[in-house]
Amino acid sequence: MKKVLLKVNHLQQYFNVGRKDEVKAVDDISFSIYEGETFGLVGESGSGKSTTGRTIIGLNTPTGGEIDFDGQDVMKIKGKKALKEFRRDVQMIFQDPYASLNPRMKVRDIIAEGIDINGLAKDEKERNQRVDELLETVGLNPSHGTRYPHEFSGGQRQRIGIARALAVKPKFIICDEPISALDVSIQAQVVNLLQDLQAQQNLTYLFIAHDLSMVKHISDRIGVMHLGKLLEVGTSDAIYNHGVHPYTESLLSAIPLPDPDHERNRKRIKYQVPPDDGKQRGMHEIAAGHYVYCTADEIAFYQNKLQQKLAQTQTAS
Ligand SMILES: Nc1ncnc2c1ncn2[C@@H]1O[C@H](COP(=O)(O)OP(=O)(O)O)[C@@H](O)[C@H]1O
Ligand SMILES: [Mg+2]
Repeated sequence: MKKVLLKVNHLQQYFNVGRKDEVKAVDDISFSIYEGETFGLVGESGSGKSTTGRTIIGLNTPTGGEIDFDGQDVMKIKGKKALKEFRRDVQMIFQDPYASLNPRMKVRDIIAEGIDINGLAKDEKERNQRVDELLETVGLNPSHGTRYPHEFSGGQRQRIGIARALAVKPKFIICDEPISALDVSIQAQVVNLLQDLQAQQNLTYLFIAHDLSMVKHISDRIGVMHLGKLLEVGTSDAIYNHGVHPYTESLLSAIPLPDPDHERNRKRIKYQVPPDDGKQRGMHEIAAGHYVYCTADEIAFYQNKLQQKLAQTQTAS
């Protein structure tokens, strides 16, 4: 049995509640992440991915729902010690590593911040040794510790951000578009590093991206988000090869195909949010572990659609 590390239940994060500019950034989403896996969260800009991550880590107070981490209700964590432990267990790395690194601090001190706050080293020597180890772990040179963030390339800065997150030995890392701002040639290196670290340290990832082709390789399972709603959840294979929600199909149709003939002839699918018909919608399981946001009446329709897609892929191969 796989252990659930993070369970998000009917999470709701509204901003400016009751005002004209109210935003339903996250609107009643539920999903679980198993220990040791990578859960990809994908959707276009503004769909609520970062807000989901920020709320999980405690940067926002949710307007509804529950977050359960490692068996405890995150909103009910009380006491300095327990809070400190949670803040150590859950780390975040960001899209723009430069903006998230203090330009006036040496890399060594940036990485050691969590070590210092949590008293994880008994003296200066142990602290610096640990930083050297971390620099090596992320593929940088220990001599880099005395330099400042601006002296590094984008990819190297992201490695510094990763080292800083690892410094406190977390269980769970939220990776918020960590490769989106990097050159394509560097993206694979950072993804490989994250995957190696995951295998070595049994890390669990929530990996956020706006592009499905980016999360496909790294994710075990994927959740597709649009305008604050989670619309489809399934294994990477299920979403990528036979995703059934029209919004998932639109994302899939936007991925360039390697074959130019196919690329020229293919149709882009444009997703339009259906008008509000007042019907009750929720996440329904259409096949083992494959969920679609729909009405109860639509379950059979999506089950059929999935069967057709599965039959198609079988004839194709
Ligand atoms: N602190 C905030 N106050 C008001 N609106 C916010 C705040 N944070 C995010 N939003 C809004 O919530 C929506 C989702 O944003 P975000 O989670 O950043 O999306 P994504 O990461 O998918 O691009 C956007 O409309 C954004 O403007
Ligand atoms: Mg974002």
